[in-house]
Amino acid sequence: MVSINVSQGDALENDSSALVIHAFEGITKPDGILSTIDSLLSGVVNSLIKDGEFTGKSTEIVRFPTLGKIKPSRVVLSGLGKKESINSLKIKEKSAEVARYLRNIGVTNISIALLSESDTGISEESFGQSVAMGSSMGLYQFKKYKSPKANNPEKSVESISIISPTGSSLPDLKRGVEKGILLSNAVEITRNLVNEPANVVTPSQMANIASETANAAGLPITILEKDDMVKHKMGAMLGVTAGSAQPPKLILIEHKGDPENPDNNIALVGKGITFDTGGISLKQAAGMGDMKGDMSGGASVIGAMHAIGTIKPKINVLGVIPAVENMPGSNAQRPGDIVTAMNGKTIEVENTDAEGRLVLADAISYIIQEKGTKRVVDIATLTGAMVIALGHVTTGVFGKTQSLVDEVLKASKTVGEKMWQLPIFDEYKEQNRSDWADVKNTGGRPAGSITAALFIGEFTDGADWAHLDIAGTNMASKAKGHIVKGATGVPVLSLVQLVENLAEAT
Ligand code: BES
Ligand code: MN
Ligand code: ZN
Repeated sequence: MVSINVSQGDALENDSSALVIHAFEGITKPDGILSTIDSLLSGVVNSLIKDGEFTGKSTEIVRFPTLGKIKPSRVVLSGLGKKESINSLKIKEKSAEVARYLRNIGVTNISIALLSESDTGISEESFGQSVAMGSSMGLYQFKKYKSPKANNPEKSVESISIISPTGSSLPDLKRGVEKGILLSNAVEITRNLVNEPANVVTPSQMANIASETANAAGLPITILEKDDMVKHKMGAMLGVTAGSAQPPKLILIEHKGDPENPDNNIALVGKGITFDTGGISLKQAAGMGDMKGDMSGGASVIGAMHAIGTIKPKINVLGVIPAVENMPGSNAQRPGDIVTAMNGKTIEVENTDAEGRLVLADAISYIIQEKGTKRVVDIATLTGAMVIALGHVTTGVFGKTQSLVDEVLKASKTVGEKMWQLPIFDEYKEQNRSDWADVKNTGGRPAGSITAALFIGEFTDGADWAHLDIAGTNMASKAKGHIVKGATGVPVLSLVQLVENLAEAT
């Protein structure tokens, strides 16, 4: 992983292979550090501006060699777009793009000139956090299973230094960088788990990695085994696991941030289907491999708990991951089966491919009944219909407790993970009605994400509840800004921000 550090002094005296200087759209002449560079290098910056080769548009990255006139071997001009619309999220995006651009040309050491708060309105702390997050998240790659090529070694950026001019506050910048690294690490834990294939990340392995992660963050962890599920009559979860040779695990990670006030609590419940074949209602072959990512909700909870254990907000947080594999087989549950969930409700399993809501139902019943959970946010790659509704850009948010939904939306806005609320009007409920049981696990094609959310809602009595459907946002097909191909790590940043905000509010 790239190392990110801060230092104070003259950026032109710093020995890096590339010095990045950001500038706004509409630049007419080099000023500040750019005017020094311009005079030392015979007017190169001025001519790039005059010739329209660098205008400061947010898509622009322009580089030139420095021919020994200053310490950095090249200068990279990075356009930030219009000054009026600058914010820390744009710094994050641009840091990612610049870092990848420089990796592609083989640069290993990058220095970045700090943008002053008086120019941008962005504090040094926030600038540091954004650069750290953008560059480390944007440089992330999952290359574990690729054999190295002897004649074509991997290019990688080793270090990034943010250079702050003498007189500015180094501690603020440093604090921001440290927070940025902490959050990027959480995202990386999640991305790694999601990118791993399902023959490696089985429910047992998910529990192992959750244990390592919880231990590293100093958090206690409990794993419930199949016997415990039988004891607690978790018929819905047991039905899903029936076809798999892999034992199911219910993973519980605890952050006791406010032990005097046990009711000041929230549970993050993440769907952990380590592979979703559909079961007897088998999925089609094309694209089925993506279903290794059907544990993305659970992986986001593990990543977020790592950050929460490190930040230690004053709130009790329970991370919950029902980890189960959904397979066909002679023991598998059948369409038409009726199972009884832990809370006593009977469910007609109309389609074994609607398995996420079944495991979430029992996981949520368990924590409300046994753990005194007062607020639940669940995160799941729940429905293909979500991808149809909001595509790969926006996570769908649902919930019966508007204040909690609002908190989720607020947190997502702060961190730049796009989310949008959809309704769960009572009128949709009849689609989940069964002729034979209390409820059935499918609601038909219309509003498939809403009926899925409403199904989960049947198991949230006694707690506030919001639900995130990340079926379209957990994986990306190409790199853009801090997002890279494969697992995105969404919505780790929103979850951590939400917990921090709720802790502040009490
Ligand atoms: N894991 C899938 C949802 C999914 C689909 C996630 C595509 C990411 C991309 C979920 O378990 C599922 O199969 N849902 C079914 C529900 C249906 C049978 C009611 C679906 O969406 O087709
Ligand atoms: Mn499914
Ligand atoms: Zn699924």
